[in-house]
Amino acid sequence: MNKIIIANWKLNPLTEKDAVRLATASDVSGVVICPPFPFLEKVHGALKKAALGAQDIFWESSGAYTGEVSAPMLKNFGVSYVIIGHSERRALGETDSDINKKVKAALVAGLKVILCVGEPWAIKKKGLAAAKNFVAGQIKKDLAGLKSLVINHKSLTIAYEPIWAIGTGKNDKPENTAEMVKFIKKLLVSSHKSKVSVLYGGSVNAKNIADFLERGCVDGALVGGASLKPAEFKKIMKIAA
Ligand code: PGA
Repeated sequence: MNKIIIANWKLNPLTEKDAVRLATASDVSGVVICPPFPFLEKVHGALKKAALGAQDIFWESSGAYTGEVSAPMLKNFGVSYVIIGHSERRALGETDSDINKKVKAALVAGLKVILCVGEPWAIKKKGLAAAKNFVAGQIKKDLAGLKSLVINHKSLTIAYEPIWAIGTGKNDKPENTAEMVKFIKKLLVSSHKSKVSVLYGGSVNAKNIADFLERGCVDGALVGGASLKPAEFKKIMKIAA
């Protein structure tokens, strides 16, 4: 599969047995499975083709940071990707400065970063120019101080996820996504001389994925809810392939 499909399970499923079942059903190359931390080991063992991703990391490697998980720990464990800056984490208080530290820590550890950006509805209402401006601001802050050399198509993927589209059943219009994708790609070429892949996320399902891949000009998708439904996700993977 040329396209990248990220399965973000969020805080699901509840048991290890269900996690392994879900992983086995989603084990296709080009797919990145991001389970909750406690299921990483068993899911890793179940995967033969798909890659393993984490949903977050902390920026320090080790020390007195109760409850945190670090990039080197995950890397040593067989994790290759990490989602950073998901809007659900930003909503819990994560700032662009935190995200910037996490991106740096992940890259130093050799993890591939999936950086999530996207505008809230209040911005979207003002139009595409306002949304682009908002997203550009996030990218600038999230990648501040990172050299062009470390930012490339292998180390970084951007997931454009308009916040109002996540988990709502209201996806973006693929033609708007296409505009945003072109804008983000251009931005990275001028800021970091780098061609990065850009994914779309926000209520992706088996019915709309083809539209995003074709008219939305995306390199793949970040799938939340639909990645928990094996039959639906199978269709998404088939269309992406
Ligand atoms: P969703 O979630 O597909 O359920 O909208 C997307 C995401 O994880 O950001």
